[in-house]
Amino acid sequence: MTEHKTRFYIETYGCQMNFADSEIVNSILIESGMEAVQTAEQADVVLLNTCAIRDNAESKVWNRLKELRGLKKTNKAMTVGVLGCMAERIKEKVIEREHLVDLVVGPDAYRDLPNLLEQIEDGRKAVNVLLSLEETYADITPVRTSGNGVTAFVSIMRGCDNMCSFCVVPFTRGRERSRPVESILGELKQLSDEGYKEVTLLGQNVNSYKFGETDFTRLMDFASQVNPEMRIRFTSPHPKDFPTPLLHLIAERPNLCNFIHIPAQAGSTTMLERMRRPYTREQYLNLISEMKSIIPGLALSTDIIAGFCGETEQEHEDTMSLMREVEFELAYMFAYSERERTLAHRKMEDDVPEQVKKSRLTQIIDQQMAIQLENNLKEIGATHIVLNESDSKRSTEQLSGRTDTNKMVVFDKQEYRPGDYVSVEITDATSATLIGKPIKKTSLTEFFSQEINIQNR
Ligand code: 5AD
Ligand code: SF4
Repeated sequence: MTEHKTRFYIETYGCQMNFADSEIVNSILIESGMEAVQTAEQADVVLLNTCAIRDNAESKVWNRLKELRGLKKTNKAMTVGVLGCMAERIKEKVIEREHLVDLVVGPDAYRDLPNLLEQIEDGRKAVNVLLSLEETYADITPVRTSGNGVTAFVSIMRGCDNMCSFCVVPFTRGRERSRPVESILGELKQLSDEGYKEVTLLGQNVNSYKFGETDFTRLMDFASQVNPEMRIRFTSPHPKDFPTPLLHLIAERPNLCNFIHIPAQAGSTTMLERMRRPYTREQYLNLISEMKSIIPGLALSTDIIAGFCGETEQEHEDTMSLMREVEFELAYMFAYSERERTLAHRKMEDDVPEQVKKSRLTQIIDQQMAIQLENNLKEIGATHIVLNESDSKRSTEQLSGRTDTNKMVVFDKQEYRPGDYVSVEITDATSATLIGKPIKKTSLTEFFSQEINIQNR
C-alpha cells in the first residue's frame, strides 16, 4: 500500500475533444482521492489519452509506450493505461502481447476508472471499452489543470452518426448524443465566473446538436448571453445541414466569433460521393457564398484529405481549385490513411500510391501557405480586437492572442495581461502569424460599436 495519495499523469494526443475528455478524467480521478502530477516520472499511474484518426497518430502512441517501458523498469509499481480512441482497436493486442499496458478504457467508460484501477491493484489487467448511447459526463465539472486560464473547451455532444467512408470516429466514439442544455450553460457560467474569456463548444458534428427543443442555433443564442464579454467559438459543423439562422446570429452578436471551421474534405462531387459526404461541390460553394454574404469579414478554415481511394488527377485539381476559390484563412491538410472497420476499408481500394498522395498533399499545402501569406499581408494596417492568451512562444516580452477571426497575433507586452482584450494595429505578417502594435485595452462591446460607427460613416 502506498502512503501518499496515488499520483496520476495524463498525456493527451489528438483532437480538442480528447483534451476536453482528459479534463473530465482529471476530475473523476481527483474526486476518487488521487493527485494530479505534471510528469510521467512522478506518477504511479500514467494514462495516454489516444487518437486513432490516422496511422501516424497511432504510431506516436506506440512510440511513447516503448519509452514508458524503460520507465517501468525503474518503477515496477507504475500502472500504464491507454484511454480514448485507440482503446477499442487495440484492447486484445495490448492485453495479450503488450505486457506494459495494464489498463484499457474507451471514451464512454471513464466513470469506471477508479474501479478499474482497483482491479489492477489485485494484479489483474482491466478493460472497459463499452460505448454508450447516453453518456455525456453532464454532471462532471472538468478540472482544467493545464490551460492558460483564458480560453477553454466545453464539449456539447459526443459521438458521430455521419459515417463518412474514411472516418473511424463513429467506431471509436459511438453514436451521437447531446449534452443537456442546462449542464452546458452551467459550465459556461462557471467559466465566466472564473474569469475565462473565450469558450469553444465542441462536438464531432455540432449542427446536429439537439436537446429537447434546443437546437444548435438556440444553444449558441443562450451561450452568447451568459456573458457578452466572453467570446464563443464552435467546432466542427458539417456542411450538409448548416443552419442559416446561425449565420444571422453570428453577424449580430459581438461575442460570437466571425470564424467558421467548415470541413470540405474534397473539391469534386464524385470524390465527395465516395467519401459519403452528402453535398456537391456547388452546394458547398453556395454555402460559403451565403456565409460570406451574411457575415462581413468572416474567416473560414477547413479540413482536406489528399489521395483518398480512386482519386484522379482531375479530382485532385478540383480540390486545389476549390481551395483557391474559397481562400481559407487556415486549413488542416492530411494524406489519406486507411482505417480498419470504415466503409473505405471494407469496400474500396486504397489505390493512390504513397508518393502520389505525398506529392498531392505537398501541392495542396504549398498553395494554401501562399494563400495565407497573401491574405495575412492584406491585414497590414487593419485594427483587430485581440484576446491575449499568454506570453508568446519566443519571448516573455511579447504576448500572443487571437483575433475574432482566429488569427494568431504577437505584440509587445507593455502593461497588458493575459485575459485582456486589446485593440491591435497589424504591422507585419507571415503565413501563420500577424505581428502588431497594441493601441489600447478595450472590450467586445466597445470595439464592435466603434466598428459599426466607422462602417456607417
Ligand atoms: N485519413 C486522413 N485524414 C482523415 N481525417 C479523418 N479520417 C481520416 C483518414 N482516414 C481527417 C478529416 C477530418 C479530420 C478531423 O481528420 O479531414 O475532418
Ligand atoms: Fe468523421 Fe465525418 Fe464524423 Fe467528422 S463528421 S468525425 S469526418 S464521420
